[in-house]
Amino acid sequence: MTQAELVVVANRLPVDRVADGSGEQSWRRSPGGLVTALEPVMRRADGAWVGWPGQPGIEVEPFEFEGTHLVPVSLSAEEIELYYEGMSNDTFWPLYHDVIAEPRYRRVWWDAYVKVNRRFAAAAAEVAAPGATVWVQDYQLQLVPRMLREARPDLVIGYFHHIPFPAYGLYSQLPWRRQVLEGLLGADVIGFQRAADAGNFARAVRRALRYPTKASGITVPNDDGTTRNALAKAFPISIDAASYVELARRPEIRARAAEIREELGNPKKILLGVDRLDYTKGIRHRLKAFGELLEDGKISVEEVTLVQVASPSRERVEAYVQLRDEIELRVGRINGDFDTMGHTAIRYLHQAYPREEMVALFLAADVMLVTALRDGMNLVAKEYVAARTDNRGVLVLSEFAGAADELSSAVRINPHDIDGMKDAIMRSIEMPAAEQGRRMRALRRKVLENDVARWSQSFLAALDAAGTANRAIRETA
Ligand code: G6P
Repeated sequence: MTQAELVVVANRLPVDRVADGSGEQSWRRSPGGLVTALEPVMRRADGAWVGWPGQPGIEVEPFEFEGTHLVPVSLSAEEIELYYEGMSNDTFWPLYHDVIAEPRYRRVWWDAYVKVNRRFAAAAAEVAAPGATVWVQDYQLQLVPRMLREARPDLVIGYFHHIPFPAYGLYSQLPWRRQVLEGLLGADVIGFQRAADAGNFARAVRRALRYPTKASGITVPNDDGTTRNALAKAFPISIDAASYVELARRPEIRARAAEIREELGNPKKILLGVDRLDYTKGIRHRLKAFGELLEDGKISVEEVTLVQVASPSRERVEAYVQLRDEIELRVGRINGDFDTMGHTAIRYLHQAYPREEMVALFLAADVMLVTALRDGMNLVAKEYVAARTDNRGVLVLSEFAGAADELSSAVRINPHDIDGMKDAIMRSIEMPAAEQGRRMRALRRKVLENDVARWSQSFLAALDAAGTANRAIRETA
């Protein structure tokens, strides 16, 4: 039986199951940044990754994949409905994104969430070597840190929260608010995207549990009357910036960027939105601003086209079904009102594309629109910046995306302020090359310096220090 020194626990495994031509099943590495970031660390540490294979009911034995030991956790169709679609994506997701959509609190979902979290914790406990480090990822698994600590007090446990953590006034709606905080506090380090998220968490702990907090430290009582320290702090996540730079320099990708412009009828300016089709992304607000600019006669379809890539997501959750209908209605209306035979207002693509095509699109786009109403980080903003090796292009960035903390040279907007957004779009369309260059160079410095490898290193270093300190407290107790 494998015993790993480093175990990552995430809702999804870092691979996707694919059927090859002959009907045989095989695995392919998933495209995400987390996967790329952790791959070298996992290789070095003889790491294991515990996660769901992404489809209902499939039982797969642990297997090796590109230097990582993968431990699949099986979920039945019913568990996917209650734990993943229900509790994770119809309760926590809207609640943690400031109730943009109404969270639903259902006890059967919670029961399934507890049960599935226990299964992930048990799988991690089994594969972790004595004294190993376990790194739990994201809101689907908030109870795992404490469950693991109870099963395996020898482990060093970290947790990273990829999405926002809301103010207590909202968080306190959660009927299980104490259990979730206790679950997270099982970790030695609880990482957040922004300092504001870490602050909201510490305040929730003070209000709901009455544990003392000091700077980023929280004093957590153990069952035996002793205490330990949990660190709650911001570690803003990033992307594998070098791989975007490399793609952006490839001649075939640059040629593809030129071809995209051509295919769109060579408009003077291309605006771009790239999002999972999610109500947190502010796609409606963006369409409203763009539609009004056409209506006002500030822009015309011959001159400006908006490309909106909206990749399919969580399609069985009602709020997502509704959102898709609304977006498609709005796109249809705008195109119906303004398209000509040769030009379209909005090229809407409800599809996912490989990274190569995305980089070509980034290079083709004069203005990138990130208009999230709330977003943990927004890695698309960082991807756009990394791809612009030519120091051209303008990033319009919502203040409500975590990325706004670091990317202060973007054109900042409040997506609720439609007039403000319209002005920002016009300013970006008209921005002189010299100003584009100045801003883009500053943005690129930030993104290239703070890549995802640096993120994982700094989290793991903090975890190592916190784990060592807590072990010392335990041993002297
Ligand atoms: C966000 C979450 C991730 C999640 C991803 C895609 O980025 O923070 O945990 O994996 O969305 O959502 P999905 O539900 O398809 O996993």
